[in-house]
Amino acid sequence: MLRQRFNTERLVNLLPQRMRAQVDEFFEALELLAEIRDPRLLASLGPAGLRGMLLKRGKQGAPTRIRASHKAHFDWSYPADQPEMAELYRRAKQGQWDSDALPWSTDVDPLNPEVPLIPSSFIDPRVLHKHGVYLEPADELKFRHSVTAWMLSQFLHGEQGALYAAAQVTEAVQFFDGKLYGATQVMDEGRHVEVFSRYLEQKLGRLYLINDNLYVLIDALMSDSRWDMKFLGMQIMIEGLALGAFGTLYRQTREPLLKQLLRMVIQDEARHVHYGVIALRDHFQNELSERERHEREDWAYEVALLMRNRFLAYEIHEEWFPATLTRAQWRRLVNEIPGMVEFRQVMFSRLVPNLREIGLMTPRILPHYERAGLMQYFGGKAATQMTAESMLAELDRPQLLATA
Ligand SMILES: [Fe+2]
Ligand SMILES: [Fe+2]
Repeated sequence: MLRQRFNTERLVNLLPQRMRAQVDEFFEALELLAEIRDPRLLASLGPAGLRGMLLKRGKQGAPTRIRASHKAHFDWSYPADQPEMAELYRRAKQGQWDSDALPWSTDVDPLNPEVPLIPSSFIDPRVLHKHGVYLEPADELKFRHSVTAWMLSQFLHGEQGALYAAAQVTEAVQFFDGKLYGATQVMDEGRHVEVFSRYLEQKLGRLYLINDNLYVLIDALMSDSRWDMKFLGMQIMIEGLALGAFGTLYRQTREPLLKQLLRMVIQDEARHVHYGVIALRDHFQNELSERERHEREDWAYEVALLMRNRFLAYEIHEEWFPATLTRAQWRRLVNEIPGMVEFRQVMFSRLVPNLREIGLMTPRILPHYERAGLMQYFGGKAATQMTAESMLAELDRPQLLATA
């Protein structure tokens, strides 16, 4: 695979500048599909990959319609069937908060170096210099404004996906206590869409289009008819990604309104992942055939790599450096940015223990995680062993301990 990538890059470099980005993008889409070797995985991620990466459905400037094919599960006897979910429902009702109560009157100036959205160390100018990028101080602040707005835009798009996925899952699950809990998650996700969109519009004045890889993930799980795949995709993988990203930005931002907003959102998300873990734990261990479990193990592993390797902010590259850096150079630069390194640490320290807890880290798949360097996160705490408070307390520590 390395060899193939090297040759692709050489080939792309021989093309006129104008065409390079387009061709590199095309090869990257093909590589995504080629990387998925299992035909069942290809059937599940492939069509979404085509729609997201080649047809760019999320970037057409028009609403997207994704066909859903799950079944709504009704139960006319209203059983009290899942005490742990009932307890989460109770906590979720008590944990509701009013988005209007956030300090929206805070004056946010994205270019004020005294109250930075993200500190200079998040990107580290030395990393930019190493890759031949020199920005004047005023431009560096504008660049950080762009990067923050890009991240928050992806959060917002992810939240829109979470809102509809939570609604679908609420219809599709068979646990009645899960349906009641799910109703609170739908409300939570609606509030998250509201606060991120309001912050972007009123305080940062920008909105970036959805990243192609995020689109692929959302499309794949919205159209999958199996409720547990929606759960795995949304409640474990995308929520894990979100906790990694929210946690990093929460730790790094010096802007008080954004920090407070993220603190409230993280408390809700901690419940969402907890629900995903308890819903899937028994199902994967007791209800599935071995073949079905293998499919989920592989799917989770492929999606974990997709999330690690492909959230590379090309939208920022296109805006800032289309003529000065190739996409391959940009990939290398992004991978060295300290904020991105921390984001991956926080994300995998949340994700891997949850995969272990739901039984998807079996001896069969462990060597793959080992090769990908992800086993260091194996012993961490799963969502069921943490509260929102303990998660925030960990993020409030000056040093991240989860990756020791
Ligand atoms: Fe959310
Ligand atoms: Fe969520």
